[in-house]
Order: sequence, then structure tokens, then C-alpha cells
Amino acid sequence: MGEVLKVSGLNKHFALFPGPKVLVGCQDVHLVLGRGEFVGITGRSGSGKSTILKCIYRTYLPQSGHIWYDSARFGSLDLAKASERRIAHLRRQEIGYVSQFLSVLPRITAREIVESAMLDDGLDLPQVRQATEKLLAHFELDCSLWDVFPQTFSGGEKLRLNIARAMAKKPRLLLLDEPTASLDHESKARVKELLVKLKTEGTSLLGIFHDLEFMDGVCDRVLAMSAGRLTAQNLR
Ligand SMILES: Nc1ncnc2c1ncn2[C@@H]1O[C@H](COP(=O)(O)OP(=O)(O)OP(=O)(O)O)[C@@H](O)[C@H]1O
Ligand SMILES: [Mg+2]
Repeated sequence: MGEVLKVSGLNKHFALFPGPKVLVGCQDVHLVLGRGEFVGITGRSGSGKSTILKCIYRTYLPQSGHIWYDSARFGSLDLAKASERRIAHLRRQEIGYVSQFLSVLPRITAREIVESAMLDDGLDLPQVRQATEKLLAHFELDCSLWDVFPQTFSGGEKLRLNIARAMAKKPRLLLLDEPTASLDHESKARVKELLVKLKTEGTSLLGIFHDLEFMDGVCDRVLAMSAGRLTAQNLR
């Protein structure tokens, strides 16, 4: 199995103003993600889990370390150093990210959010329409919500839409930051089903979960974090 991602010696600190104080995000993180592998990260609040994901997605620029990613378009490249232009391409075409919190544009309907994610992929409009409706229905978003702005959605509805948007692209690498935090049992099962499907279709996944039960059966390996460091590479 080839590697899709190889993180080595990753350090991210935050300077606190005013003064010389520095807050540790993550330090000396090493991890490898194989192609088609699903790795889970767990750990206490504030231990640096989201920081790792944000460095990979380049929301954060790390102080040091390498994030080697095997891109379909560019070959092997270091996400810690890649140009903004390449990062923008990768975010559009290869790397998906489901945030812990949903931010939605105020004037775009649920349907348009998912459709626009698919249109980047070169499908034609009728195909996109059909695939979008299938995905929204899978996540049990009531069809009365499809043409509504999601600002007023409940937390769980927003989350399900967020996941639908990320999955619409069938990304090569999918980063998940507690995507199931506020979902009920049935919705979680729906998410799990599609994550497994994506995995069998070749997506590699790196996800943060608090729910050990959820990780069971989907994650190939579970890593543990504590105070900015990975403390175990193989919990199960
Ligand atoms: N942009 C930032 N500016 C300053 N400090 C930050 C920033 N982002 C993260 N931190 C700090 O880095 C540490 C790790 O944060 P991170 O968000 O990675 O934790 P986490 O493990 O994802 O926690 P949670 O489970 O609560 O989401 C925390 O102490 C946090 O306050
Ligand atoms: Mg977090």
C-alpha cells in the first residue's frame, strides 16, 4: 500500500500577544496514512487534534516539519511549503475537510452547496442534480429543506449537509474534524455507511472522533494525542 500522506516533525505554536508567551498547538508529530486507509485520532480537548488537521489543510502554516502528500495532479509535494495556487487546486479537487463547526454562506441553498461541490468534477447538470438529491436523501435531509438557505438549519442538519458537501467530491483525502459530534445514533450510522463506501472507492481518511464506538469497525488504526504530542500510534 502506497502512502498518501506522511507527516514528519510537525510543529505548530501560537504566539500570544502581548508578551513572549507561546501556546503549543502540536509538537513533533509524525504520522503516515496509507492509500485507502482510515486513521482515527482521539485525545482530550485542547490536545492539538484540530491543529494537525488544519496544518494538513493549510488553514495553519506550521513553524517546522513536512507534510508529504501524494497528489494525483502534482505528484509528491510538501503541503507545508506548497504554493497557495496549488493548495487552492488541491482543496477544490483532491482534499476534503469537514470542520468541527459549520460555516455556511448566507445566500446559497442546501441543494446549491452540494451541486457546486460536484460541478467542479466535470459531471453534466442532470447527473449532478440526480446525485445531489440522492446524497441529500441519504442523509435524511427533508426535501422541504433542499431549496432553503441553511442558516436556520438545526446543528445536526448543518452537520449532515457539511458531510454531504465534502463527500460529493469523492476526495482523494478526506479530513474529518469530529463530524458526528452532535448527531443522533441513526444519523451517525448513515455517516458511517458513506464513509465506509468512500473508503472502498479509494478515499484515504484521517478523522478526529471522541466516540470510540463510532471508530470501531471503520478505522484501521487509532492514534492518541496528549498535550500536543501523539502518544500512541496504534490504540487498536
Ligand atoms: N488559532 C489559534 N490561536 C491560538 N491558539 C490556538 C489556535 N488554534 C489552536 N490553539 C490552541 O492550541 C491548542 C490545541 O488546539 P486544538 O484546536 O488543536 O485542540 P483539539 O485537540 O482539537 O481540541 P477539541 O477537542 O476541544 O477540539 C489549544 O490549547 C488551543 O487553544
Ligand atoms: Mg478540535
